[in-house]
Amino acid sequence: MSAILPPSDRLWWKQPIDKVEWAWIAIAFVWGMIMFGMMIYWHVYGKQNLSNEAYRITPELFAAKAEKFIAENTIRTETDQDIPVVKVPAGGDGYLIARLWAWYPILELEEGQTYKIHLSSMDYLHGFSLQPVNINIEVIPGYEHVVKMTPTKAGTYAVVCNEYCGIGHSSMLGRIYVTKKGE
Ligand code: CUA
Repeated sequence: MSAILPPSDRLWWKQPIDKVEWAWIAIAFVWGMIMFGMMIYWHVYGKQNLSNEAYRITPELFAAKAEKFIAENTIRTETDQDIPVVKVPAGGDGYLIARLWAWYPILELEEGQTYKIHLSSMDYLHGFSLQPVNINIEVIPGYEHVVKMTPTKAGTYAVVCNEYCGIGHSSMLGRIYVTKKGE
């Protein structure tokens, strides 16, 4: 029998299902259920799928909130790019703007503190990817994502855009600093 010709027996769907086919259907179903369970398991016990909330907001309103946060909490500017480094108050709220093609500003967090990081895009879809810890959040214009984060290790983290957003996509890089306790 050839795959390009119609089946010789036109009522093929009335054929009994072979034992091997049943076995594969069962394997696929059980695997699907395991994967479904793992999504919930990783959310509760894993460290990557963070709890987050999302609210509708306009880019203008989000930018205004972010600018206020930046004006109140900037501790220095990075000389090479003149980007403000903003210390997020411990237990408080930090704002990060995604736009063509930059993350703004640079956030500074403290080890062991819990923060609410607000993310939104000014223009198109961007992807917040925090490396090397591999936390991934889609940043969608018109929505304010609020993500709870507790950095556990001091260091410099890179924010990489992982949703293709045009010619400057590959250079859309940002930074988050995590300082040691009490620094
Ligand atoms: Cu922003 Cu890719």
